[in-house]
Amino acid sequence: MTCKPQLMSKFLSGLTIALGGGAGFVAINLYKGNEKFYNSFVMPVLHATFDGESAHRLAINMAKYSLLPDFYSKMKDYKNLKSSLWTLEFNHPIGLAAGFDKDGEAVPGLSKLGFSFIEVGSVTPNPQSGNEKPRVFRLKNDEAIINRYGFNSAGHEAVRENLTKSLSNLKPTVVGLNLGKNKASVDSVDDYVAGLEAFGNSKFIDYFVINISSPNTPGLRNIQLKNHLEPFLDKILQTKAKLKITKPLLLKISPDLSEKEKEDIAELVIKSRPNGLKIDGLVVTNTTVSRPDLKSPEASETGGLSGQPLKNLSTQMIRDMHFLTKGSIPIIGAGGVSDGKDAYEKLRAGASLIQLYTALTYRGPSLVSTIVDELSHLISEDGFSSIEEIIGIDAEKATK
Ligand SMILES: Cc1cc2nc3c(=O)[nH]c(=O)nc-3n(C[C@H](O)[C@H](O)[C@H](O)COP(=O)(O)O)c2cc1C
Repeated sequence: MTCKPQLMSKFLSGLTIALGGGAGFVAINLYKGNEKFYNSFVMPVLHATFDGESAHRLAINMAKYSLLPDFYSKMKDYKNLKSSLWTLEFNHPIGLAAGFDKDGEAVPGLSKLGFSFIEVGSVTPNPQSGNEKPRVFRLKNDEAIINRYGFNSAGHEAVRENLTKSLSNLKPTVVGLNLGKNKASVDSVDDYVAGLEAFGNSKFIDYFVINISSPNTPGLRNIQLKNHLEPFLDKILQTKAKLKITKPLLLKISPDLSEKEKEDIAELVIKSRPNGLKIDGLVVTNTTVSRPDLKSPEASETGGLSGQPLKNLSTQMIRDMHFLTKGSIPIIGAGGVSDGKDAYEKLRAGASLIQLYTALTYRGPSLVSTIVDELSHLISEDGFSSIEEIIGIDAEKATK
């Protein structure tokens, strides 16, 4: 994809007009990341000027050309938020969820917002354009999004080039890669195998996610069902072993699974296989096709719902999967996190790390540093000295 400078200039003139002139004032505050300025002016103007997809593209271009404000270097060093997982070190548990930087164009710029890890993707083997526009809808009254992008992806080769270009000099953060499948593929598992072959030994990727839970690719979510999932996971894990990939491999699941489906998945991910082959973690959850009590007119759009209305559903799923897997594999929790309390709840439910996406589009670039600060305070106020002490304590309580 190419950069569209006209997007940026349209945005800047909108903002300058909204503020009654003073382009210099606007530019300085944008660059410095003045939190109040972003929340009171930038985000409302962004939403008024652009539809969801154009605003997303603008944000990616700003990150790509290092135009986003630097919150990372201003963040404190929070000792009680540090953790190590697999063989990776995390400064705090807040990461960027898949779907924001689909093509791996903007990791260094996005890491300036303070994320401790960034998940690139979903990436498909061949380039594909995804569904017709419009395909992203803001549900303002619900602080939510419905998207039906349908895996628009530049494809493995272009994403590999993007990552090499942007990360060769400096890899500023932990990077995950979320693998998807082409709409036209006949045998889905081959697309994930191709993903592991293309990126398995890339020095830019620290962990992999097998995404079988996006609602916008026909048939994809059926792979989560036991009779499909068992041979699917066997093949993926055999490929991982054959390619000698030692990096963690996670499975991303949907919030719309039945109790029985959750039990089956838990059983299959912790099942012992020959040579110790296993899934290393779960990402819980993707977007939902359910429509829990929404107030916005866009609620009837087809697609996956994310943000506030997904929050409790995904926290409950985290609790369930932590319990069903007996806390034996790490969970990355995602769904409606927009403040420190939301993140704290998900950690207590059983997540070891947290991801967010939708809240960033409503609350702006200072969000990560705010959440991290709030989370650190909540943990110490409750008398804990590290996040490791709180992971899953509510899931365990709920079962006693
Ligand atoms: C516009 C949009 C696009 C997304 N694209 C992907 C994707 O390509 N792959 C994926 O695994 N998840 C994707 N997601 C789901 C997010 O990664 C995340 O699981 C979900 O949105 C819940 O988090 P949130 O409520 O903080 O947004 C997407 C979400 C949104 C809003």
